[in-house]
Amino acid sequence: MEQKKDNQNEIKLNLGCGGRPLDGYINVDMDTVDELRRRYPGSSNFPPGLKVYQYDIFNLPYKDGTVDEVRADSFIEHLSFIEEPKLFNEAKRVLKRGGVLRFQVPDFEAVVKAWLEAKDDWKEFYRTDDEAIAKNHWFGNYSYTVGNRWGYLTAGLYGTQNSPGQFHRNCYTEGKIRAMLKYLGFTDIEIERADDVRLPKGVLPGVHLLVRCRKI
Ligand SMILES: C[S@@+](CC[C@H](N)C(=O)[O-])C[C@H]1O[C@@H](n2cnc3c(N)ncnc32)[C@H](O)[C@@H]1O
Repeated sequence: MEQKKDNQNEIKLNLGCGGRPLDGYINVDMDTVDELRRRYPGSSNFPPGLKVYQYDIFNLPYKDGTVDEVRADSFIEHLSFIEEPKLFNEAKRVLKRGGVLRFQVPDFEAVVKAWLEAKDDWKEFYRTDDEAIAKNHWFGNYSYTVGNRWGYLTAGLYGTQNSPGQFHRNCYTEGKIRAMLKYLGFTDIEIERADDVRLPKGVLPGVHLLVRCRKI
């Protein structure tokens, strides 16, 4: 097992890195780096030599209490109801005492509210032709507009569905997250609102929940 470490010799995992592998982290995804390059043609986030590891996220190759940070952005909503506790327990197992668990997740309540307020203006739900893909097509409207239910907002509920791991199978609110982390025995729970970096500035500000907590 390769344990890439940053300057502070910390082990930091970025689970479900997808299109945003991060410096200083061991980037993990079910898709290989070549599959990710194909999924995001033209992205500069996959320089030559970048490693993305296909670890089993429910059985990570780290001993108990050896990891400094587990990070998972726009990821836990991709887990099933059965997988959800497995992942949280696995993160807790590998983290050191005082280690940080951080994740960003769509606020289901905010997305549903925006969906109810948006126009029911269906045009073409999904296209897979080359032109659409080349333009970073998003559910038929070529944009991240949130004025129409059938673009970003539906993807926010169901996932972009552009690869087998890109389906949403779960949902989160601040109340559920606080209860879950308390149940698991995490401490110093902080939840802030964050923008979805894929949306233009000012569009649905704070639609994501940014969660940080520590293992006792
Ligand atoms: C929406 S992307 C997240 C991208 C990135 N973390 C970000 O912040 O933009 C979710 C990623 O999780 C990956 N994924 C889904 N289920 C997985 C699993 N069981 N094990 C590893 N990766 C998984 C998908 O392949 C996808 O790349």
